[in-house]
Amino acid sequence: MRRNRQDGQSAPTAWAYSPAPEPRAIVKLQPRYGLFINGAFVEPHSGRYFTTLNPATEEVLAEVAYAEAEDVDRAVRAARHAYEHWSKLPGKERAKYLFRIARLLQERAREFAVLESLDNGKPIRETRDVDIPLTIAHFFYYAGWADKLEYAFQGRTPRPLGVAGQIIPWNFPLLMAAWKIAPALATGNTVVLKPAETTPLTALLLAEVLQQAELPPGVVNIITGDGQTGAWLVQHPDVDKIAFTGSTEVGKLIQKAVAGTRKRLTLELGGKAAHVIFEDAAIDQAVEGIVNGIYFNQGHVCCAGSRLLVQESIADLVIRKLKRRIQLLRIGDPLDKNTDVGAINSLPQLQKIERLVQVGMQEGAEIYQPDCPLPERGYWYRPTILTNVSMAHTVAREEIFGPVLSVLTFRTPDEAVQIANNIRYGLSAGVWTNKGSRYLEFAARVKAGVVWCNTYNKFDPTSPFGGYKESGFGREGGVHGLLPYVAF
Ligand code: NAI
Ligand code: MG
Repeated sequence: MRRNRQDGQSAPTAWAYSPAPEPRAIVKLQPRYGLFINGAFVEPHSGRYFTTLNPATEEVLAEVAYAEAEDVDRAVRAARHAYEHWSKLPGKERAKYLFRIARLLQERAREFAVLESLDNGKPIRETRDVDIPLTIAHFFYYAGWADKLEYAFQGRTPRPLGVAGQIIPWNFPLLMAAWKIAPALATGNTVVLKPAETTPLTALLLAEVLQQAELPPGVVNIITGDGQTGAWLVQHPDVDKIAFTGSTEVGKLIQKAVAGTRKRLTLELGGKAAHVIFEDAAIDQAVEGIVNGIYFNQGHVCCAGSRLLVQESIADLVIRKLKRRIQLLRIGDPLDKNTDVGAINSLPQLQKIERLVQVGMQEGAEIYQPDCPLPERGYWYRPTILTNVSMAHTVAREEIFGPVLSVLTFRTPDEAVQIANNIRYGLSAGVWTNKGSRYLEFAARVKAGVVWCNTYNKFDPTSPFGGYKESGFGREGGVHGLLPYVAF
């Protein structure tokens, strides 16, 4: 790789990609965003604001309001008030709003994709082709259920719970907002949503779409802030349900906080998925699956295939092909349409990845990274493969939440299942084999909420998603995703 230009990019040659930037002019950033309460943007009680960055450049994008306990209370009261009306609307009327939101998101899809890439650092190819289309699909899907709830729960009459407090992480900001809001509204609940502190902007743009859709004021309130804001929402006495996606550590705090209250709870937490490659697998396809499993979204994926289990007989071959493959990944400007791997979402997350990889090497792992140029500003981490890893290693047990793959080997199908299950998490798993009986047996025995066979990271709103063990409980997506928002 030639690195002879000032900007650190390789010199253009006949074989290099030309820059293909997605124009960012479509996004009209405001210098400052208030809290979205009762259908309008309002000043925070304290007058405090904080900044959100573009992690690819460290440029400040905007200031967003910091919601204190008083603001949380204001949002919950707005949601409670709106609930009186919203919960009594016929399902077919609620459906119309959800359809309208989905249609408006379709019309503004490019704007959302660019803004998500700016605020999060993920490649435009992913926001354009994955995050935003899946967000839209989710709203359409739950719009479809809103007037058919009696078929979802046959013989029972579901009723909404009330006000749902929803706390989401920074790895799929808009998509997680959709996973939370769409089923809650379809079932007649109202919402107070708290986006993550590093990625609030697409949720605030969604608030604009909710206004455009003329969603009644207070049905969805969006309050920005940090973990303390989230804690106030969890503790608020007039919240009926908490839905949380984020770290297992915070999930445990939330579970303690709601213990002994009438609040209903769903938790979607961390993971350390086993991605199992049997010797009879289609190797080249499996290598693509491995790359997608761990380097998609910089590995900031709760269900990332972060623990590769390769059958011993093919381990050398798979690792060799994998190393060659990741040399071709393009890292850099998230807005460039040819970028495969974008920026790490924040400096603390980058430091966490660096620390865990350091620990891995101290414990004896061997590291492999491609020799690609990295931009000078922003938060970057090379796609990384750690070999010589066993289940005793920290990097095989802890969620790194970055582009770091830990490679282990196994000999028999039994051993693969044992290693896969020898972990406190149970969110997802992947298996590659030519034999249907083998993947069916693996899928039945592995303790994971989602098991992908001969593919990875496939998402669909009709398919439930959620964990076992310390990966949480409750399901999002599919008919199952309605259940956490209803009582009988
Ligand atoms: P986090 O769990 O602290 O943040 C997720 C959301 O929870 C954010 O909106 C945050 O403001 C909120 N929050 C934080 N503390 C809270 C509290 N006490 N009560 C209520 N809400 C609270 O995750 P963070 O700090 O961003 O990342 C730390 C690590 O967590 C990552 O390195 C990664 O390993 C893991 N993580 C896993 C995710 C997953 O989907 N599995 C998502 C995000 C982080
Ligand atoms: Mg940001």
